[in-house]
Amino acid sequence: MLKTGALATAATMLDWTLALADATFPSPPQLEVDRSQRGLAVANFAASRARALVAGRTAWILGYGGSYPGPTVRITEGETVRLTFRNDLDQVTNLHFHGLHISPSVDNPLLELAPGESHLYEFTVPLNSAGTYWYHPHLHGHVAEQLFAGLAGAIIVDSRDPQPDLSLADDHLIVLKDVTLNGDEIATHTSMDWRRGKIGDYSLVNGAVNPTLTATSGLLRLRFLNASNARYYRLRIDGHVLNLIATDGGMIEKPLELNELHLAPGERAEVLVQLDRSGTFRVWDSASAGTSSHGAIGMGGGGMSGGSRGMTAPRRPQFRPFPSVGRAHPLMTIVVPSTPSAVPLPARLSYLDRLDPSIAQDSPSFVLSDGMMMGSAFLINGRSFDPNRDDTVARAGSVAVWQVRNQGMMEHPFHLHTYPFQVIERNGVPEALLAWRDVVNVSPGETVRFVVRYSDLTGRTVYHCHIPEHEDQGMMGVLEVS
Ligand code: C2O
Ligand code: CU
Ligand code: CU
Repeated sequence: MLKTGALATAATMLDWTLALADATFPSPPQLEVDRSQRGLAVANFAASRARALVAGRTAWILGYGGSYPGPTVRITEGETVRLTFRNDLDQVTNLHFHGLHISPSVDNPLLELAPGESHLYEFTVPLNSAGTYWYHPHLHGHVAEQLFAGLAGAIIVDSRDPQPDLSLADDHLIVLKDVTLNGDEIATHTSMDWRRGKIGDYSLVNGAVNPTLTATSGLLRLRFLNASNARYYRLRIDGHVLNLIATDGGMIEKPLELNELHLAPGERAEVLVQLDRSGTFRVWDSASAGTSSHGAIGMGGGGMSGGSRGMTAPRRPQFRPFPSVGRAHPLMTIVVPSTPSAVPLPARLSYLDRLDPSIAQDSPSFVLSDGMMMGSAFLINGRSFDPNRDDTVARAGSVAVWQVRNQGMMEHPFHLHTYPFQVIERNGVPEALLAWRDVVNVSPGETVRFVVRYSDLTGRTVYHCHIPEHEDQGMMGVLEVS
């Protein structure tokens, strides 16, 4: 029950027993939720400085519930969540529910919670939002350090009527987060880190270095969350393809076979891996490693849109903002102890409503600049973030096409709060995959267009680069929907 969240079948007992046997694979703790009142999920948690296990060591972190990463918040479509959050840090912070379509008056990035202060976050989980999301601090100027120090956790929204075809899958959350330790402290930012975004020495899976996952079924469902500040991931699994089933905003229409999965900071993706033989298979990341002999190649560019088969074609050489940290390195290891019985992939996952760009009433344009040439300014349309200024205004219910051009020299994963969007074009090339996203990477020189509907919710919300160092230094704007 704890593991899959739902099933009350005989198979559950079996799954559970086997899951207990797999004691080596770490998972973030699950937030304890009180559901004694029907339709209501009540929980409390706090952010604090705490000792936690990170990269195999005990270190001081800033964490939610004292763990690295923080506890997983598991909620269901349609339920009302009442979450009381306490700031036990010695600095100001707040909480953001990344990707959830909830009112900006609740999910308010401009709120400031002083040390010792508590705040009640109450919202209803939108219908048709099943998927993998996350939460992290969002106080302008503080996000980069607080996130790097460990303040991040996953939110899993379960469907009211789950895909029966997926009930046999071994369901695992994989929080990708990197860290540098300095003794038993998380390393602080250098001035270089403030430019590039801080890249940690260790790439961790659920806080551990290369953990082993022992498969208990012929189908793995891996929910990846890139909760790193600035590290991009290019994931591959020895001898297996990754069948993409969900992006930031939930299921896509049908599984999409990938040899390599790209994840920019802030992005999520769920994949199914079919296991048909015993063995030991590693999950590799090669994003920051200079993956080919083609020299410097931009790495975030393709996102998941880089084609359904084969390695992503090498892109034009360009300035690489991220240091090369070596060769492809294993992130985790999958052990399949005996030949599993084959589990087919679901043929159909969901039906997505395609937003029609031709009915857009507005087409705002955003130019990102990172000031490599002129000091250290991270700007959108030449302006630095001002919480008192509305940069973009819109009417609730209308549709808009956003154009985001990266005129800088660094990668910028562009993120919009509150309203999920569909990417329609990259550098004039139509996007093949119909998917709900809330982050889209924009490489230097690229122009991305996406379509968004400002459905039902009104208020002031934000968009920004999801490298929090860039955001903290001004690469953020306010969208007001009325
Ligand atoms: Cu994950 Cu505005 O952020
Ligand atoms: Cu967000
Ligand atoms: Cu950026």
